[in-house]
Amino acid sequence: MFPKYFEFFNSVKINAGENALEGLPSELNRLNVSKPFIITDEGIVKVGLLDIVLSGFNDSDIVIGAIYDKVPPDSSIEVVNEAARIYKEQNCDCIIAVGGGSVIDSAKGMNIVISENTNDIVKFAGHDRIKNFQQPLIVIPTTSGTGSEVTLVAVVADKQKDKKMLFTSSKLLPSVAVIDPRMTMSLPPVLTAATGMDALTHAIEAYTCLQKNPISDAYAYSAIKTVSENLINVIEDGKDAQGRLELAVASTSAGIAFSNSMVGAVHAIGHTVGAIAHIHHGMAMSILLPHVMEYNQNTVGNLYAKLLLPLAGAEVYSSTPKEERSQASINFIKEMNKQINTICGMSITLKNAGVSEEKLQEIANKSLNDGAMVVNPVDLNTDDVMSVLKKAY
Ligand SMILES: [Fe+2]
Repeated sequence: MFPKYFEFFNSVKINAGENALEGLPSELNRLNVSKPFIITDEGIVKVGLLDIVLSGFNDSDIVIGAIYDKVPPDSSIEVVNEAARIYKEQNCDCIIAVGGGSVIDSAKGMNIVISENTNDIVKFAGHDRIKNFQQPLIVIPTTSGTGSEVTLVAVVADKQKDKKMLFTSSKLLPSVAVIDPRMTMSLPPVLTAATGMDALTHAIEAYTCLQKNPISDAYAYSAIKTVSENLINVIEDGKDAQGRLELAVASTSAGIAFSNSMVGAVHAIGHTVGAIAHIHHGMAMSILLPHVMEYNQNTVGNLYAKLLLPLAGAEVYSSTPKEERSQASINFIKEMNKQINTICGMSITLKNAGVSEEKLQEIANKSLNDGAMVVNPVDLNTDDVMSVLKKAY
């Protein structure tokens, strides 16, 4: 499956490791900026994570231009416009995003408003419609899952029209991602599990979708190995700083992988389950992943077989007959789900996650319209999605 042609692009500088935040002032110097606008949410402030970030500036002469902590769980047009207005009023010259997916999306969204000098972000929605270079953006993720710190995508909700707008452009890639294990240390076990399984799904779908390429494969493979080696330990012991760091780096690797290939049916169905039944994205991923893999197995079983090595290690790989390795990879993920369920109670069926059975047909119908479906290695029709959903129920 070596592609006839592919493109790979990632311009994000990654600073990862213990006390990585201490390097923030020198990063601002390198970027030739000195008045950062910090965007975050109230939860991050409350648990003291913003204080850790601010402590990185203790011995510097950087003056923080403004701190905006009103990002809601879903970023919106109103939020990005308001943040952009304060940024301009305070004459800031760069953005620091401290948070999960919604905060990072809001930072990218406000950057579009500022850089395009517009009050109407809607006209930049879609692929490659952003013309101007963006303000320097430093992202400090507080979950290990979305990979948004290295992706060229922003999602901003248009609440009045009740829909989500998608912006994609290489100009949206952040300047720097700072990965410091202190930022994910207080993530509760269920969220650690859900975001970790999201990262694993990004990597497995990136490794098997129609737009995969040899370079995205390398990032995906590394992410799969690292999540598999660390996730269960970190759910059990959240204070395992080394494990936290490795998981965060795996999530970033998976983000680089899928933003240079794509995802697949787990995400297509999972997005729809999330939109209709409002369950956590990562939990939807973990529930659906093994069932979609079983569906795809006839076509990409050879790839799943290769993944048994990073998933289960050399001993299991070498002692499993070649023709059984694909199913063994799927079984390994089912086993991971069971362990996670035992440790922290995260649901392993859609039913337990609170999805009502009557909604399954609507989910199946709408899943086909999701953009991720077209790159799944196997075509699915509504009946196929329905059979996956029933197995996951
Ligand atoms: Fe995801």
